[in-house]
Amino acid sequence: MKAAEAFYALVRERRSIRRFERRPVPREKLLRILQAATRAPSAHNRQPWRFVVVQQVEVRRRLVEAMEASWREDLAREGLPAAEIEARMGRNRKRLLGAPALLIMGLSMEDMDRYPDERRQRAEHIMAVQSVAMAGALSLLAAQAEGLGACWVCAPLFAPDAVRRVLNLPQDWQPQGAVLLGYPEGAGAGTARRPLDQVVMWR
Ligand SMILES: Cc1cc2nc3c(=O)[nH]c(=O)nc-3n(C[C@H](O)[C@H](O)[C@H](O)COP(=O)(O)O)c2cc1C
Repeated sequence: MKAAEAFYALVRERRSIRRFERRPVPREKLLRILQAATRAPSAHNRQPWRFVVVQQVEVRRRLVEAMEASWREDLAREGLPAAEIEARMGRNRKRLLGAPALLIMGLSMEDMDRYPDERRQRAEHIMAVQSVAMAGALSLLAAQAEGLGACWVCAPLFAPDAVRRVLNLPQDWQPQGAVLLGYPEGAGAGTARRPLDQVVMWR
């Protein structure tokens, strides 16, 4: 298969996988995925991405419990009924604890430029977020190439302090999300995409 065909097949066949077999992900695969992720382009090549590979069951459990406590507070403040809160927690817990490996995606502004005004500082921060997202996309494709399933989940973004505390992260690491990784249990459902003419303008 030509390189371009192989690439497009990989892109086409990638889908978010949320259910996994229990067997662990070999370390070499994780290392190759991390290597691929760090080949992503980044603003000024400052590489603001930071990763935490979480595989230990006990650490995953503590992480999920801490994030849950934070979400419970948010949802209760919103006035959501207790039964609905529990249902959401159950779904999340199943997903996060069911993945043999979690790749926590973090961001550090340490090496990014600093601006005296808020407008440019916000733009700089967005560039760091964009850079981390690029690393995330490459990690999803690399997982696919490795025969693994993966799914980006936003959970850590909504409970950053809980993630920092449990994983004992440096204060400047800003949790952005997590990539669930593992051998897929069943094929993920395909998702549709809007046709190009709805999202592209040519001028
Ligand atoms: C920024 C971002 C946040 C996401 N958060 C979640 C999430 O919290 N839980 C989840 O199950 N999927 C999450 N997803 C996965 C999307 O639901 C998924 O990519 C989308 O439905 C398209 O499906 P596909 O990846 O199979 O093509 C997220 C994806 C992105 C890019």
